[in-house]
Amino acid sequence: MIVALNNKSNLDCQEFQHYQEELKKIKTNETLILCPTFLNLGQFSSDTISLGSQNVSSRGNGAFTGEVSALQLKSYGAKYAIIGHSERREYQKESLEEIHEKLLRLLENDITPILCIGETREEREQGRVEEVLEQEILTAIEGMSEEDRARMIVAYEPIWSIGTGIIPTNQEIEEVFQFIKTFLPKASILYGGSANEENIDQLNQISLIDGYLLGGLSLKVEKLKIFLQKLEK
Ligand code: PGA
Repeated sequence: MIVALNNKSNLDCQEFQHYQEELKKIKTNETLILCPTFLNLGQFSSDTISLGSQNVSSRGNGAFTGEVSALQLKSYGAKYAIIGHSERREYQKESLEEIHEKLLRLLENDITPILCIGETREEREQGRVEEVLEQEILTAIEGMSEEDRARMIVAYEPIWSIGTGIIPTNQEIEEVFQFIKTFLPKASILYGGSANEENIDQLNQISLIDGYLLGGLSLKVEKLKIFLQKLEK
């Protein structure tokens, strides 16, 4: 299973030093991917934990103040990059087209995209889940080769689950995963949104899940260890 850790905008320089030492002590057979802030990404290296970013520029190197390019990420050892996280779609007003451009920059640099998709509570209540997800998927992967589609990672993160402690029912997750598979049958699909050491037993029952994208839990190493132990059961 893939377990991607999204630190979000957390951990200062000193905190990260301590954090990474603790993280590196974890023993697991799962594929761990650490996605720290750009600053901390530059300081991290491990033989067992892969490196990912939380974002990437939609352009290459050049006069784009404040941006970090895929080429730069690659040079620092990033093998994965989260794109289209709902927090960026909301607060940075990232458009579907921009996310598509980001995906292209990653593929050009052999970085595996972790494309986040998900609906709001309101969209679910309106019965628009499939419509929203279809648009997010299709605009992102437009023109992509079969080969690139197969090596993509999609993270289904219902926006109403992120940081709320509420997760969908197993049936709701299964329905969405089946739907995503109609567009991307070979991609790995992660679940994200309040996944933790307590609800992992319930989530474990869903065979379609290829892994998890963890936000809050990524910062709590002891609880993360319990999560990983339960995952391996
Ligand atoms: P959460 O965040 O695990 O804290 O809900 C997940 C995410 O936003 O990727």
